[in-house]
Amino acid sequence: MPSSDAPAPEIFKPLDPAPRLLMGPGPVNVYPSVLHAMATPMLGQFDPQFTAYMNEVMVLYRQVFQTKNQWTLLINGTARAGIEACLTSMITPGDKVLVLNFGRFGHLLTEISERCGATVVTLDTAWGTVFEADQVRDAIKQHRPQIVATVHGDTSTTMAQPLAEIGAACREFDALLYVDATATLGGMEIDVDGWQLDAVTSGLQKCLSGPPGSSPITINQRIVDVVMRRKHIEEGIRPAGYQAADGQRIQSNYFDLPMLLDYWGPQRLNHHTESTSMLYAARECARVILSQGLQTTFARHKQASTALRAGLRAMGLELYGDENHRMDNVTGVHIPSAVDSDKVRAEMLVDFGIEIGTSFGSLHGVIWRIGTMGYVCSKPNILRCISALEAALRRNGYVAPPGAAVDAVYGVYDGKK
Ligand SMILES: Cc1ncc(COP(=O)(O)O)c(C=O)c1O
Repeated sequence: MPSSDAPAPEIFKPLDPAPRLLMGPGPVNVYPSVLHAMATPMLGQFDPQFTAYMNEVMVLYRQVFQTKNQWTLLINGTARAGIEACLTSMITPGDKVLVLNFGRFGHLLTEISERCGATVVTLDTAWGTVFEADQVRDAIKQHRPQIVATVHGDTSTTMAQPLAEIGAACREFDALLYVDATATLGGMEIDVDGWQLDAVTSGLQKCLSGPPGSSPITINQRIVDVVMRRKHIEEGIRPAGYQAADGQRIQSNYFDLPMLLDYWGPQRLNHHTESTSMLYAARECARVILSQGLQTTFARHKQASTALRAGLRAMGLELYGDENHRMDNVTGVHIPSAVDSDKVRAEMLVDFGIEIGTSFGSLHGVIWRIGTMGYVCSKPNILRCISALEAALRRNGYVAPPGAAVDAVYGVYDGKK
């Protein structure tokens, strides 16, 4: 090996990152017990102990998703793995998909649907706003899509699309409803069965406070009926008497829902090797949240974002987006024109050990996004973040009324606002 390619001695040091408080839009700090769970010894994927853990994961996530759906399971990969598994399996090339596009992740749903061979129509609205239920119903009536796809909380704009009436509109016109709840599951109410959401997917690294790399999903019988019409089991594992379904084979093997259901179901038909440590992590995330209580967890997120916003306003900063439709777990705030946005973020990170988020596309350099998700969403962390931001802004030429922001945060936690 030429000497210039020799690894620097640092590479042989163990990992030792500086501590960070992750208050961006995700990933966020992981519950300590989740890290602990990930150090649990490996098991073989068909060891009865491991398959029992898989079943427990299904039971736990049914409660997290507030659903009776039998098929509530994990897709290995980040949140978009769950999105791709659903859309790839649900969309037969040529299907029409209506995407409710109110941010970057609406564009992602459009892109993935197009890759699946769908004819995509979008309903668009300005970033920072969401849709009225009537607008959505009218669009479904006009376009008659097989599938409606939407994000619940789009972290790019920090807006949450109300979903309670959209499921009924989809049923009225016989469309399936897919929802990306990556950033809201475990942080805001999502009543999968009550709101008639047919397929919902998430990720671990936001309000569930796990590491990125596992995507909990839930699908109801309407979705199962559609994807089963495309069931083709790969050669080499086909059970006796197997007959392929008539529908077009799903183009992805990894994200083939019928094969995944056979793997997660009583048949335990071999597919991929389940990501053992991520399953342990996902199980622990759900266990922690459910032992705290779902409604308690939602209330904690609401209180933390209310306190953060009170602090930001007390600094004279302007919040971003439609105030009636903000997510409870990430806040957009306009960057004061006097300051260098990257410098303030860098000082927050290096001097205070706190990460806040930048933004995408037209919002880059316009707003910061501050997350109050999962383990991070607590009074001490809101106070730390607000105090540090006040100091970093002052060093960079934006002077807020001293102490007003911290007082405003205390005001919310003391119940005075
Ligand atoms: C709403 C939403 N959907 C999808 C994703 C994609 O998630 P991942 O990066 O885990 O694939 C994100 C990530 O930020 C998100 O916020």
